[in-house]
Amino acid sequence: MKIYARITGTGSYLPGSPVTNNALIAAHHLDSSDEWIVERTGIRARHFAPEGVTTSDLALEAARRALEAAVCQPNDIDLIIVATSTPDYVFPSVATLLQAKLGHTNGAPAFDIQAVCGGFVYALSIAEKFIQTGTSRCALVVGAETFSRMIDWKDRSTCVLFGDGAGAVVLEASDEPGILASAVHADGRYHSILSAPGHLCGGQPIGDPLIRMDGQAVFKFAVRALADVAEETLVAANLPPEQLDWLVPHQANIRIIQATAKKLRLPPEKCIVTVERHGNTSAASVPLALDEAVRTGKIKRRDTLLLEGIGAGFTWGSVLVRF
Ligand code: UT7
Repeated sequence: MKIYARITGTGSYLPGSPVTNNALIAAHHLDSSDEWIVERTGIRARHFAPEGVTTSDLALEAARRALEAAVCQPNDIDLIIVATSTPDYVFPSVATLLQAKLGHTNGAPAFDIQAVCGGFVYALSIAEKFIQTGTSRCALVVGAETFSRMIDWKDRSTCVLFGDGAGAVVLEASDEPGILASAVHADGRYHSILSAPGHLCGGQPIGDPLIRMDGQAVFKFAVRALADVAEETLVAANLPPEQLDWLVPHQANIRIIQATAKKLRLPPEKCIVTVERHGNTSAASVPLALDEAVRTGKIKRRDTLLLEGIGAGFTWGSVLVRF
């Protein structure tokens, strides 16, 4: 019998209090305005991890909530994948740090996926393959980021966009679908339009390890790639867009979300939108939006959802889910 992978629990975590646009502008003496940020991005506030709080700390809170929702104990988990581009250390991975913090001792594999804002859909589609092949029965898939640590506060075109947070799902083997279809892609020719182009050498940062972005190029690429991959995933599952209950897109910019929904001929009320309160939390944005929509009762069991992510690399993908 075919093994499906079903999401059995979701969780998320946002650190600290919301930081409004005006508070951010005042704190960093930015030549910007609440009006510009809201109109061009839809963002009104974001959260930042306090000093000393790391990506694995955020991942731990989100993971605990997802495990509780799935009624799972840490040692029920036989696969841990964390999508992040802002790990605590160069190594070991956030996934193994999370494993230790959870008190997880059954020896299951744990590893990170680095596909930036496309990371969660990558991680989810990989976990699905582990489950489909019978290698795993219960996977913990997390997106967690502390992008605040990589922001250039003098660059108004990027520093107003990002926030910190984490989201998680428990994915379990089931006779019932589950994940209906998924697709992931990358095109490295676009690596320079969004990057943090630095590295460590002799323990010192070399180059420019802060976020650099050609916003307009990213915007255009994102709208086209997200619409194409959404269509590819829906076709693979033979599902017309009108049968979707919810689009759960990467939360980078309300205008990208609206443009993607329009291309799919989906009404705006079918889009889960959290960007106004979370900003862009990179790999955490999709599971954060998913968990919030589940906990507020918008997304219900058996709803059909299309999860979508896109990020630097460029990487992108989507996962079609019967919740
Ligand atoms: O997670 C995936 C990665 N991220 C994305 O998906 C982001 C994709 N890109 C975007 O969301 C948008 O391109 C931005 C929000 C980054 C920028 O919006 P835009 O409408 O493309 O603005 P722009 O870059 O064309 O800039 C328009 C003007 C410029 O001024 P001039 O040259 O026309 O005088 C910018 O300097 O807006 C200026 N500007 C700002 N003004 C006030 C840029 N940032 C700000 C700011 N406040 N924070």
